[in-house]
Amino acid sequence: MSGIRLGVVGYGGRISGLIQGVFRELAADLQVTGIVDPDEAGVRSRIDSAAPGRGWAKAGGGIADDVTFYRDIDQMVKQGQLDALAIGTRCNLHTPLAIRAAQYNLPLFLEKPVAVDMRQAKALEAAFDGSQCRAVVSFPLRVSPLCELARQYIDEGAVGDPVHVAATNYVPYGTTYWEAAYRDYDVTHGLFLQKATHDFDYLMYLMGQPIVRVAATATRGHVYGGDKPSGHRCSVCDEVADCLESPQNRRRNSSGGTTSDHLCLFSVDCGEGHRLNEDASSAVLEFADGSQGVYTQVFYARRDAGTRGANVSGYLGSVAFDWYTDELKRVRHHAPFSAVEKASGGASHFGGDLELARDFIALVDHGADSRTPIETGLQSVYACLAAKESAEKSRFVNVRLVGQN
Ligand SMILES: NC(=O)c1ccc[n+]([C@@H]2O[C@H](COP(=O)([O-])OP(=O)(O)OC[C@H]3O[C@@H](n4cnc5c(N)ncnc54)[C@H](O)[C@@H]3O)[C@@H](O)[C@H]2O)c1
Repeated sequence: MSGIRLGVVGYGGRISGLIQGVFRELAADLQVTGIVDPDEAGVRSRIDSAAPGRGWAKAGGGIADDVTFYRDIDQMVKQGQLDALAIGTRCNLHTPLAIRAAQYNLPLFLEKPVAVDMRQAKALEAAFDGSQCRAVVSFPLRVSPLCELARQYIDEGAVGDPVHVAATNYVPYGTTYWEAAYRDYDVTHGLFLQKATHDFDYLMYLMGQPIVRVAATATRGHVYGGDKPSGHRCSVCDEVADCLESPQNRRRNSSGGTTSDHLCLFSVDCGEGHRLNEDASSAVLEFADGSQGVYTQVFYARRDAGTRGANVSGYLGSVAFDWYTDELKRVRHHAPFSAVEKASGGASHFGGDLELARDFIALVDHGADSRTPIETGLQSVYACLAAKESAEKSRFVNVRLVGQN
């Protein structure tokens, strides 16, 4: 199909980056013709910054967007002659908007997490039950070439039957969850839903089955959060000389995060009690056939401490990979051979964003199957909600399965 007409709800940082980057790399004449977003000025500045002559060539050429702003998704679909929809708002709005979108049977690109609580998740599942709307859920890790390679080796019998998986996620850019809008707990609902939704999804993909039971724990308030006043920021703070998060110290230490004036990571605005993003959280996972996994995520890691990946093992062997080193290692447990493969990296989300774009453009163009349909988004949310509840109640929690009554 030439000249895909895309309608976008929530034209923010993430979705504009995808559209101006990987979407147009594959479909240079894709046009954003309709937008629903209350921040028209912000949207226009994002569109302008990508306009021809301002970095446009880097996005693979293309045509300028001739955008109409609409009141809501219904008006946009009725008047906009769209070929497809994308939802790029923040987390808590994904479900209500996707439920509206489910009525229209247009191909849908949907940001994660697809829901933030059980009520939303069940409503979303019900809306898609019987809907013809097909979605590409924004899970770049599952479709990244390194994960696909691991899955291929596991399918070919490299480990025998998978019995165990150990997965780690040391996030070197974790400060964003305390200094940017992600610290608003009402929007994110914690870092299992915000972050582990990707990891639980790809782990279920590698193990070939759903997570059915979770025991989790969360550590909060040891590092970030605190009692600095609401709205506090570096430019008015008298501790910037010593604070490791001040712009000057981040610059001096090359420790990452924004190096301009920013909101305080130790402020009451970060929340308290269960309504504070966790410094670290972990889960013991039980899969449907009784095999098991452990997953741990750490948000204060910096610099070379960044690591994300998994080691899947069975009696016959192990397959381990890490997206940060872009390396996969296979070990045969009963033969004197091991192999290390190095991927050539550098692409956004380890090449996963380009694969998501491939799936979405192919879905719009000729109805091709999505590798991340709505069920994957829902199943991952159900596992995240179980982890969240388990950490709150200090006990194992069963995971609801998609399709369960
Ligand atoms: N899949 C990934 O790897 C990945 C990576 C980054 C972010 N994300 C997800 O993307 C989402 C958006 O993150 P972001 O950083 O782009 O946020 P953002 O704040 O930059 O974008 C959100 C946009 O939604 C708009 N908006 C707010 N209320 C709205 C409403 N009622 N209707 C329509 N639009 C509305 C805002 O004005 C803004 O333009 C988050 O849920 C985040 O979890 C996913």
